[in-house]
Amino acid sequence: MRAPTLVLAFAVFTGLLAGQTPAPRVEKSAYGSFQLNVDGQPFLILSAQVANSSGWKDQLERSWPLYQQLHANTAEIPVYWEVVEPQEGRFDFSSVDMVIEGARAHHLHLVLLWFATWKNGEMDYVPTWVKENPGRFPRMRNRAGEQVRVLTPLSTESRDADKRAFAALMRHVKEVDGDRHTVIMVQVENESGSLETDRDYSAEANKQFNGPVAPELLRALGKSPGKAAANWRQVFGPEEADEAFAAYSVATYVNAVAAAGKKEYDLPMYANVWLRERKNFERPGDAYPSGGATSNMLDLWKAVTPALDAIGPDNYVLDYIGYRSVLRTYARPDNPLFVPETMPGPLAARYMFYALGEFHALSFAPFGLDASLDPQYASMGLFDGLSANYRLLGPAIPEIARLQKANAIQVAVEEDRLTDLRLTYTQYESVVTFGTPKPSYGGLFGTGTKDKTGRALVAEVAPDEFLIGGFDALVKFLPRRSSELRRAQFAWAEEGDFENGVWKRTRLLNGDEVFFGIALPAAGKWVKVKLIAY
Ligand code: DGJ
Repeated sequence: MRAPTLVLAFAVFTGLLAGQTPAPRVEKSAYGSFQLNVDGQPFLILSAQVANSSGWKDQLERSWPLYQQLHANTAEIPVYWEVVEPQEGRFDFSSVDMVIEGARAHHLHLVLLWFATWKNGEMDYVPTWVKENPGRFPRMRNRAGEQVRVLTPLSTESRDADKRAFAALMRHVKEVDGDRHTVIMVQVENESGSLETDRDYSAEANKQFNGPVAPELLRALGKSPGKAAANWRQVFGPEEADEAFAAYSVATYVNAVAAAGKKEYDLPMYANVWLRERKNFERPGDAYPSGGATSNMLDLWKAVTPALDAIGPDNYVLDYIGYRSVLRTYARPDNPLFVPETMPGPLAARYMFYALGEFHALSFAPFGLDASLDPQYASMGLFDGLSANYRLLGPAIPEIARLQKANAIQVAVEEDRLTDLRLTYTQYESVVTFGTPKPSYGGLFGTGTKDKTGRALVAEVAPDEFLIGGFDALVKFLPRRSSELRRAQFAWAEEGDFENGVWKRTRLLNGDEVFFGIALPAAGKWVKVKLIAY
C-alpha cells in the first residue's frame, strides 16, 4: 500500500515543480455535491458574458476593464467557427490567442463559448464555405418541406466538420494554455436546437422518425423496447415525439463534438439551454429551439451526453419563483448547476444568492457586460449590485465551496412583500429582516428596502457558530423552538474579510453593533458569530 502512495506523492510533487497542476475538473464529492477544481483549489466562476460580436480586439480592450470593475474572476468570451476556419482545413487561431493573452493580462480565467453549428437555434456562425454548400451540409426542412436556417443534426458531414474544427481548437488551446489553465471551461455550441421547425422533415429524417427508437436510448431512459421495436411516436407520444427525435439527434451531435474536443484537451465542457419555461404556448421550434436540453428533454440529454460535464440553463425567467424552479430543475444529482447566462441588473444581484447558496451553482454569468460601454446603459448601473456581490464573495470562494459541499448554506433574499425570512438550523433559528423594522402585532417586522437590495447567506459552520454575509439585512437568532432554552446571546461576533479563502478578523462587534442583531450594510460585509443559548 505504501509504495504506490509514495510514487503518487512523488509524481504530484515533481508535477508541481514542473508547474503542472492538474487540468480544471468538475468533481463529485462523497456527499454527492459537485465542486469545480482549478489548479487543485475549489473554484466558483463569477463572471459575465460579453455581447455576441465582442470577441474582437477593440471590443475586448474596452471590455477587460469592465471585468475588473465587476470583480469577476473569469471572462466568458465567444470564439467563432467562421473566424477560426475561414477556409476548410485552414485554421487561424490568432483571435483565440488574443482572447487568452487579454485574459491573462487582466488576471482572469476564461470560459470559451464555441459558436458553431448552433447559435440561438440557428446556424449563423458556421463558416461561409458551409453556408454556401447545402448539398454537402444540408439544412433542416420544416413540415412544408421548405429549408430553414438551421443545419440538420442528422448530417454526418456537418457533424464531422464541426468536430474537426472543435478538436483543432482544443488542440491549440492545450498547446498554448495547457500548463497555464487560463481557459478553465468550454461551452459547446450555443443554445442548440432549431427555431423555425420542431424537427427535420426531410425524407431521410421522416424515415428515421418512423423507424425504431435506438435501444440504448430506451434503456438509458428506463423505457422497455417491448417486443416489436417501437417508433418515436409510440415511445414518446404525440405531444413530445417530434421534439424527442430532435433532442436525440442534437444531443448526440453535441456530445460527439464535445468528445472530439476532450480527446485533444480534457477540459470541463457544458451545453447551455434556451429554456421553454414561461414561453407563451411553449411550442418547440417556435417559442424556443426544439431539440435543446429543455426541462422536458433533460433526462434524454443526460442519457446521451457523457462528454458534457454539465447542462446549464440560460435563466432569463424574471419572477423569483420561476427563477428558482429553473435552478432546481437543472441542479440534479447527475448535473452540477452552472448558470451560463442570466439577465443583469438588480434581479441578478439577488438571484445569485439563490443560485450559489440554495442550489450550489458553480458559476454565475449575466449576459451583456459590455452593454455598459453604452452611456445610456452605463447610467442604469446594471452591474452595480453584481459587482458588490463579486467583491464580497470572490475572496471567500474556497470557504463558500467548502460550505456548499457540506450543505451548510442557507439564503434569505428580499422579494416583493418578503421582508422577514426565517431559517432553521440544527440548534438555532434565525430571522433575516430587510428594511427598517417597525412594530406591529406579533413583534417587529421589516419594511423592505427602497430598491429590494436585501440578500444574505447564513451558513452553519458549527451548531453554535455561523458565518453571515450579504447586504442590507438584519440577522437575529434564537434557539430552535424545540429547545428547552428560550434565548440566545452572542458569545462573540467578529467582523472580517477573507483573503484567498482565509478569514481575517478586522474587529469584534459588540454594544450598539449587535444589540438588535447583526446588521449587514448596503455595501455588504462578513460577520462570524458564536452563540450561547440560555
Ligand atoms: C441568449 C444567447 O445565448 C446569447 O448569445 C445572446 O444572444 C442572448 N440570448 C441575447 O439576449
